[in-house]
Amino acid sequence: MRIDIISVLPEMLTATLDASILGRAQARGIIDVAVHDLRDWTTDRHRTTDDYPFGGGPGMVMKPEPVYRALDAISDLHPDTPMVVVMSPQGRPLDQALVHDLAAQSRLILLCGRYEGFDERILDRADLEVSIGDYVLTGGELPALVLVDAVARLQEGALGCTDSATDESFAEGLLEYPQYTRPAVFEDKQVPEVLLSGDHARIAAWRRRESVRRTAERRPDLLVHAHLTDEEREFARRIAEGETTHGD
Ligand SMILES: C[S@@+](CC[C@H](N)C(=O)[O-])C[C@H]1O[C@@H](n2cnc3c(N)ncnc32)[C@H](O)[C@@H]1O
Repeated sequence: MRIDIISVLPEMLTATLDASILGRAQARGIIDVAVHDLRDWTTDRHRTTDDYPFGGGPGMVMKPEPVYRALDAISDLHPDTPMVVVMSPQGRPLDQALVHDLAAQSRLILLCGRYEGFDERILDRADLEVSIGDYVLTGGELPALVLVDAVARLQEGALGCTDSATDESFAEGLLEYPQYTRPAVFEDKQVPEVLLSGDHARIAAWRRRESVRRTAERRPDLLVHAHLTDEEREFARRIAEGETTHGD
């Protein structure tokens, strides 16, 4: 998968992209991420990418010309047609379903805003606007890194263990079950006995139930789309209504 990121602060992106799983995925050729400085497509001495808003008001707005030129040039750098994604607090909220859709693309171009955001005509070049949450950041670089991280770890071979991306929060519309590691007893806190039993069927059943419980307690909104049996749905309803305890 190829990802191009356009930003006026490319140095904000490179350090993170070279670290950890993202760095390894690039080194192994699983994803190919290229960072571009939007100022390379300016034509004036000051390499200007922003200007005052028509109609007045605070802040500056990102000019369309450098962005259009950058998109034209960067699109030609790779044979695949890119999906152009603009990072914006007004965009579609990023969730695991959208991450899966984006991860299935062969090519993305991510556009990071700054200042008060983009001249509206820039959005004519976007296939999608994506928000990482209902809050406003100073720029699109952190949102772009969030998106790249989430998408990269779904690429085949990116994670050490192939199960890691399937057996986790949101994978089945549920939050993940509680996890424990050694020691089995820590400060008088005992790991649930079932996890030490070696009985894989019992462990799977416990984990499924704890996933349902945790989702009902913390994110009941997710249950609307989760695939639950009738018995699990009834269990979730009782949790939500405070009828059950951890012994259930
Ligand atoms: C200060 S914000 C502009 C906000 C804009 N004036 C508005 O009210 O919608 C500057 C840039 O940061 C990025 N940004 C800020 N918050 C974001 C979020 N929650 N999700 C995605 N991108 C965000 C966008 O690229 C945006 O163009």
